[in-house]
Amino acid sequence: MDFAPSQTDPAHTCQHPPVFDDAFFEQLIDLFRWRRDVRRFRTDPVPQALVEELVSMATLAPSVGNSQPWRFISVESRERRQKVIEDFNLCNAEALKTYEGERAARYARLKLSGLREAPIHLAVFCDMETLAGKRLGRLTMPETLSYSVVAAIQILWLAARARGLGLGWVSILHPDVLKKTLDVPAEWQFIAYLCLGYPQEEHEDPELVRSQWQARLAEPGRLLHR
Ligand SMILES: Cc1cc2nc3c(=O)[nH]c(=O)nc-3n(C[C@H](O)[C@H](O)[C@H](O)COP(=O)(O)O)c2cc1C
Repeated sequence: MDFAPSQTDPAHTCQHPPVFDDAFFEQLIDLFRWRRDVRRFRTDPVPQALVEELVSMATLAPSVGNSQPWRFISVESRERRQKVIEDFNLCNAEALKTYEGERAARYARLKLSGLREAPIHLAVFCDMETLAGKRLGRLTMPETLSYSVVAAIQILWLAARARGLGLGWVSILHPDVLKKTLDVPAEWQFIAYLCLGYPQEEHEDPELVRSQWQARLAEPGRLLHR
């Protein structure tokens, strides 16, 4: 797969503000529509420079007080990946026990991670004690720090799709096991475990819709007025 790095250094600045025309907006909507949570990956390698580009893009995200609390770990060791897979299997079995009958059978059929196939594993944390941002915006809502990390993940997700890569978010994990497995500082909160790779398939509808787990909810009435 060809990959040409672009002007993605977050420090890069345009001389003039760009004009986003209608054609760009149409493409942006396509990007939103065709972003998927991917669990079926091809095993082709992903260039390291591409992973770095995506993480770099993610750091353009908004963050409370400009605290930039995101911390990304590329999980490469076979032993560590194996521990994550074992914990996923355990958590998934625990989750299965919470369903009964037809719903349990349906849950058991779902593919809920691409941990074995994905060439890239990224664990994402939030540094809850970062001094950056000088506490601005966090006094009454300390959770805004972790919201900022989710904002970064969303950029990474869309940038990955724009580069032809799929991303799968795995949350069926014990955060404390993950922190221990990856040996991270105590003050880092686990936010997400991301699988990245080239997708086997492209779809406009979510896998959980296709597998009749959860349909998309009806559009009208989402924006309330007070
Ligand atoms: C916070 C979060 C956690 C998620 N955890 C999982 C997970 O553990 N396993 C999984 O298969 N999908 C997971 N997903 C993906 C969702 O199932 C998916 O986003 C949803 O079904 C809609 O599909 P789409 O992302 O393709 O639009 C997660 C998504 C989010 C935002």
